[in-house]
Amino acid sequence: MNSQPLQNRVGFITGGARGIGYGIALRFAREGASVVIADINEPLARESAARVTAETGRAAIALRCDVTDRADVNAAIARTVAELGSLDILVSNAGICPFVEFLDLDNETWQKTIDVILTGGFNVGQAAARSMIARKTGGRIIYITSLSTIQAGSSQVDYAAAKSGEKMLMAGMAGALGKHGITVNAIAPGVIYTEMGAFHWDVPEHRKAFGEANPRGRLGEPKDIANAAVFLALDESEYITGTTIRVDGGHLAVG
Ligand SMILES: NC(=O)c1ccc[n+]([C@@H]2O[C@H](COP(=O)([O-])OP(=O)(O)OC[C@H]3O[C@@H](n4cnc5c(N)ncnc54)[C@H](O)[C@@H]3O)[C@@H](O)[C@H]2O)c1
Repeated sequence: MNSQPLQNRVGFITGGARGIGYGIALRFAREGASVVIADINEPLARESAARVTAETGRAAIALRCDVTDRADVNAAIARTVAELGSLDILVSNAGICPFVEFLDLDNETWQKTIDVILTGGFNVGQAAARSMIARKTGGRIIYITSLSTIQAGSSQVDYAAAKSGEKMLMAGMAGALGKHGITVNAIAPGVIYTEMGAFHWDVPEHRKAFGEANPRGRLGEPKDIANAAVFLALDESEYITGTTIRVDGGHLAVG
């Protein structure tokens, strides 16, 4: 296999300024890709893009992009193509998890979660697919969903509903886009240590209990998700579409 299998590819990662998205951007660049870090947090996106280039020598650009805003998304994709020549791999990763108990959920919180995860996923997926089809390059689209598509906690009802919608968005898109040489898949992470859940996992007893219950004995890390994302982006994965890879250290198998 090519030692840099993503050479000459352009990866566009939403929510790439930190956490799982940053881990994927860094790894794609290590595998030879140019990357776009598209994030609502522009200052952090800039810092992260500079770090990717410093560590890998690959082009990395930061674009301010709110995935809930179609004009923002379209502009970011147009700039990607203008500056880097194409958009070959979309990772739809931007997400929020407000952790509000079901009976306390208000309409605004519900709507925001649906907007960022589900409508945002639609916005970027459709815009990226149109760009790939126009350039006749084929491509790869990867959604970062969640185990919440299978198991819903009482403080993640909005999140589980949005992520489950996103999973079926992925499936429908796989059907629509296969004939254009575009595969569409999801990665469902288990617990990955990032700022999203750090308030819980920084408590030593929580971390210890998780490690004892998880077959692999530890929390997941962004690099674990990046490994699966690289696999789905490879040429060799061209017949894999419409499916989800669960990356949870065996969490669900024993839960
Ligand atoms: N960490 C976990 O345990 C875990 C588990 C399962 C799934 N996930 C999913 O993985 C993805 C990444 O999670 P993370 O843990 O890295 O979270 P994170 O909070 O560390 O990072 C999320 C990133 O998304 C960006 N973002 C938020 N709203 C946005 C918007 N409207 N437009 C553009 N960017 C926006 C943020 O600025 C941030 O950089 C999310 O979709 C999350 O739901 C995470």
